[in-house]
Amino acid sequence: MTSLTHDGFHRSRPASELRIALAGGAQNQRDAVKELIAQVREVDSEITDLGEHPAGYENDPDLALLIWLLDPTDHNMWTAGLRSMTSTRSICPTIALLPKRSPHFMQAALRAGFDDVLTFPPTSEDILRTLLRVSEARRKAQSLSDNQICSLVSVCGGQGISSLTVWLGFALQRILGKRTVLVDLDLQAASLSVLLDLDPEHTIAELADPTSPIDSIRLESVLSKHDESPALLAAPKRIEEAELVSATAVEASLKVLHDLFDAVLIDCGRYLNESSVVAFEHSDHVLYVLDQSITAVRAAQRFLCLYDNLGLQHRPQLIVNRYRSKDVVTLRSIEEALQLPIYATVPYDETTFKQMQTVGRDFWHLSYATNVRRSCETLARKLFAPEAEKAPATKPNLLSRLFGIAR
Ligand SMILES: Nc1ncnc2c1ncn2[C@@H]1O[C@H](COP(=O)(O)OP(=O)(O)OP(=O)(O)O)[C@@H](O)[C@H]1O
Ligand SMILES: [Mg+2]
Repeated sequence: MTSLTHDGFHRSRPASELRIALAGGAQNQRDAVKELIAQVREVDSEITDLGEHPAGYENDPDLALLIWLLDPTDHNMWTAGLRSMTSTRSICPTIALLPKRSPHFMQAALRAGFDDVLTFPPTSEDILRTLLRVSEARRKAQSLSDNQICSLVSVCGGQGISSLTVWLGFALQRILGKRTVLVDLDLQAASLSVLLDLDPEHTIAELADPTSPIDSIRLESVLSKHDESPALLAAPKRIEEAELVSATAVEASLKVLHDLFDAVLIDCGRYLNESSVVAFEHSDHVLYVLDQSITAVRAAQRFLCLYDNLGLQHRPQLIVNRYRSKDVVTLRSIEEALQLPIYATVPYDETTFKQMQTVGRDFWHLSYATNVRRSCETLARKLFAPEAEKAPATKPNLLSRLFGIAR
């Protein structure tokens, strides 16, 4: 529903509402445009009438569209007028409305900096197309900024990073419907392709050539994909190719993957290097995986110490894998030792994880994997859909509620 206001932008409104400013022209002309905008049912909008001479207007960073009815006799002032309205505001599309169709003034309006030109009165189709275009562009920009990168790391080997990267990837792709890509930065071990049961034709090694830029076409051509599984940017086929992959190539690849996918999950392996630091830098989440052993806790302390020195934006989030509620090393003692809360746990489940290595991609459907599947789903929601976290898709069964498996 559209609401018309004349008193500024200060009342609360839904985030999806388009905030439109109308300027210039006579009152009855602005009213006619408001009426046309109000008839567009497909887009919620709120209009602020800035009057005939919008001098002194307070810039609004959330303004989605500015429509200005131009007076051709003032055409020398258009550039300065537009600049004064848009100089300190984040850029929003600007539409010039001209009293008649004149190529000369259309060109002048575009040169003054308007993004598009329409003639007054605009048709309802003109207005519909304009509003839809603006609202779609905003939706796209919003969804791009929702895309996230998540790194999984552990400096103590064998903690389950590769397995959890794959489980989490499946939960994101299959339950949350997120377009997901896994990146294998454990360049020597290359475990992800094994766990996904893929024999990648192309690998990250093909992105090593620094002379050609890494764009979406080049990147998509080296991804491996099978049906409903997450896509994979695989580690090199041979160990000796690993050193060809520079941190610069990793950084450029992550930037492109971030635009292409809703979720990017990186298996950083156990050995930290320049590429892992680049991955952390670009990550919205860094998951440090450990089990309930003294050696794993000690290694985590060493990692956190280094991580602090790197001065990165996000604190790592602790994932306790192979979790057993009766273990002598309790969650609380881990939290105390690391001075960090535990973000999630994944239960110990030898059968499921053993089977995972033999059944390949079908592991997701293993009947006895319910608890692991559920804890990975909970983790996926917590990381990528926090607003939905409180409403998991599947109902916990009696056993898991009794044992309090998902944290
Ligand atoms: N929750 C779990 N319960 C039981 N076994 C598990 C669990 N998580 C992982 N494992 C098993 O632990 C072993 C190590 O797992 P994985 O290879 O995923 O760890 P990693 O951290 O990637 O190891 P690496 O340091 O060698 O790369 C595998 O055999 C895996 O099946
Ligand atoms: Mg691994």
